[in-house]
Amino acid sequence: MNTQLKDLIEKLNQDLAAEYQAVIMYNTYAAGVLGEHRQQLRELFLQEIPDEMEHAKYLADKIVALEGNPTLSIGKVPKAENDCEMLENVLKAEAETIQRYGQRRLEAEEIGDLALMNDLEEMISDETRHKEECEKILRGFIPKI
Ligand SMILES: [Fe+2]
Ligand SMILES: [Fe+2]
Repeated sequence: MNTQLKDLIEKLNQDLAAEYQAVIMYNTYAAGVLGEHRQQLRELFLQEIPDEMEHAKYLADKIVALEGNPTLSIGKVPKAENDCEMLENVLKAEAETIQRYGQRRLEAEEIGDLALMNDLEEMISDETRHKEECEKILRGFIPKI
């Protein structure tokens, strides 16, 4: 296996650990969110879980297709003291993921994997939708944002 492919598999594994983290983050925040916006936020968090699970499933399958081993690691979920912190953590995680997948798309292009490029673009669209929904809620939450 060449170094370029090996590197890509390693990075896809970091992406996979981050997708697992996203599932746990949304599930934990959905359970823990309190206060007047509980219902709205809980629904938002819960509705992202199937997308993140799909991404994790896809990445694990792709890593095996590339002859790698899917990681068993899970990224650490940041603690949040209140609903606002939850939204900020979610926003940060989604923004980082969009950036990582943009980078990964370039790396997929370098090895000529057009399908991976296309699949990453679809995941970028999902993550962007998550980020924008979260931004809209935050906008109404804190006047300064
Ligand atoms: Fe995701
Ligand atoms: Fe997401």
